[in-house]
Amino acid sequence: MVRISSVSKHPTSSYKSSSMPNYHTSQPKPDTAIDRTVPDFPIAQVSDEDRYFNTHEAPEYLPQIEQQVQQFIDHHHTQTGKSVVLVTSGGTTVPLENNTVRFIDNFSAGTRGATSAEYFLENGYAVIFLHREFSLLPYSRHYSHTTNCFLDYMTERNNKVEIDDKFADEMLVVLRKYKQAQSTQSLLSIPFTTVNQYLYTLKSVSKLLQQLDSKALFYLAAAVSDFFLPSSRIPQHKIQSQASGKLVVDLEQVPKFLRRLVDSWAPSAMIVSFKLETDDSILIKKAKGALERYQHQLVIGNLLQTRKKEIVFVTVDGNQKWVRLTDQELQDGVEIESLIIPEVIKEHSKWITQHK
Ligand code: PMT
Repeated sequence: MVRISSVSKHPTSSYKSSSMPNYHTSQPKPDTAIDRTVPDFPIAQVSDEDRYFNTHEAPEYLPQIEQQVQQFIDHHHTQTGKSVVLVTSGGTTVPLENNTVRFIDNFSAGTRGATSAEYFLENGYAVIFLHREFSLLPYSRHYSHTTNCFLDYMTERNNKVEIDDKFADEMLVVLRKYKQAQSTQSLLSIPFTTVNQYLYTLKSVSKLLQQLDSKALFYLAAAVSDFFLPSSRIPQHKIQSQASGKLVVDLEQVPKFLRRLVDSWAPSAMIVSFKLETDDSILIKKAKGALERYQHQLVIGNLLQTRKKEIVFVTVDGNQKWVRLTDQELQDGVEIESLIIPEVIKEHSKWITQHK
């Protein structure tokens, strides 16, 4: 699903943690012109993946991220012994201009990723949360975006703002978990906005995670753009609407990097990908196809319409296991991720044992 959007002023995230970066991925580089020195696609021998990274610039803040991730890995490798999961979350954008006014986006709000990250943390994992900047975040998701305005949780008493008694117990639970994640340095949040930023960051983080061998887990819930405008063809300035009265966008396919992740970036890690479809008759076939194509360990299939109440695990031996919430569970506010994550962790434990 693709939506063409214009830039809007994002709300300031209410989430601040010591690991919050001091750069923003959603701001375009105002000084960039179309760069004709970027080599065009080289011919033959060079794989699509190499071609992509040879012809697209790395984000300038990438060394900062690499440093943060290395420190995070060192901390958990030497001090806590925790397994580390990379959770990807939210949709990527495809800018149509270098000074970006318009971009292609998709529906993902980051609910799956942010919710899953919380359950990984609760189950003793350290989490690198690679997410679309300004999408939902673990813990703050309960009170952010339009559905749950944080002000509704407040009340005024004696000229002071307080948490309304009705919500205090529930909020205390969330607050304690959030503080626990912070004090144990178990959550590292890393943002992306564009598909290029996502791909570069995924590659860098994956290569660093390889140091953890089988104790690294990838849980790829992000909705990554399948098509993009290569940097050699992206215009510098806002596309003018008067010019032809029409906008014809000629996009190219984003190389499928999953196989590269499995074979070369983090070959000892366990890799879980997601498959999203809107037609239930092709979901299982597509999930099995992904396992064959990328040779990884687990695909979690979901349908756009029902993704919050049912998912299917598809494994390399061809098994399918549906996980569904009952109506009662849905009413009680049970989150499907509370059932998904323990299953994924079980599989990861087996993976670690097999690789000892
Ligand atoms: O954010 P929500 O609103 O909660 O929605 C969650 C979700 C529906 C987006 C999520 O559950 C989901 O299904 N994500 C994957 C969407 C998808 O079908 O992606 P794909 O088929 O394009 O890619 C397959 C897998 O490879 C995905 O795990 C994707 O994260 C990963 N991928 C794909 C391309 C790429 N270049 N890099 C990747 O990592």
